Amino acid sequence: MEYKEFAKYYDKFYHNKNYAKETDFLMSFINQSDEIIDIGCGTGIHASILEQKGFKIDGLDLNKEMLDIAKTRVHSTLYLQNILGININKKYNIIISMFAVLNHLKDTKELEKALQNLKNILTDNGKIIIDLHNPQSSGNKIDSYDNMTRTMEWHYDKKLKIENSKIIFEINGQKYTDTHTFRIFTIDEVKQCCKNVGLVVKNVYENYDVNKCGTSISKNLQFLICKDI
Ligand SMILES: C[S@@+](CC[C@H](N)C(=O)[O-])C[C@H]1O[C@@H](n2cnc3c(N)ncnc32)[C@H](O)[C@@H]1O
Repeated sequence: MEYKEFAKYYDKFYHNKNYAKETDFLMSFINQSDEIIDIGCGTGIHASILEQKGFKIDGLDLNKEMLDIAKTRVHSTLYLQNILGININKKYNIIISMFAVLNHLKDTKELEKALQNLKNILTDNGKIIIDLHNPQSSGNKIDSYDNMTRTMEWHYDKKLKIENSKIIFEINGQKYTDTHTFRIFTIDEVKQCCKNVGLVVKNVYENYDVNKCGTSISKNLQFLICKDI
């Protein structure tokens, strides 16, 4: 997905996403003095909620149009960078990556590279929290909100571990179409990639709930990862 033209409609498109609940989940792992970075911060909603609660949080995203929107709400440093080539001269206690950012990577080789890059900017006792998409089937959905109609179609190929989706949104009489391909990573693949780069998965959650254990049939998965030392 390009997130170029889509950027200006992103927040409206995901208007019913529960960012407040997701941020509460994140706060279970964060101390007030922690230095945080949001990888694939997009339009900066998690970062801005955390900033409003007094946390110091930077952001990184590949897409300038998304960062331009994030800049209107977040006051700390925002890096226009690819997770596959992070060049930041600072270490963070907490690294978050929310809403399927890593599913944009094409295979476990890229996932391993991304995890290595995150490890390089993590303090020794720091924590990484990544949130992955974990579809169970194919489907479609149409709904309307305000002056927007949103159509989503997704096809999940379980064998290839690939989800192809198409989103069409009609807003003020204009129609935009966007497609994306997500590589769906299994819990075992994430654990193995972590192990290969000296990280370890401490816990897997589902639905942004510290009391719920993530499994292969969870709709989404949150991984708590630390350095293996
Ligand atoms: C679904 S959006 C999630 C945005 C935000 N984290 C949220 O929860 O709303 C995925 C974001 O990941 C970013 N992204 C995708 N691939 C990336 C990469 N290789 N490096 C950095 N950011 C990437 C996209 O530009 C986009 O902003």
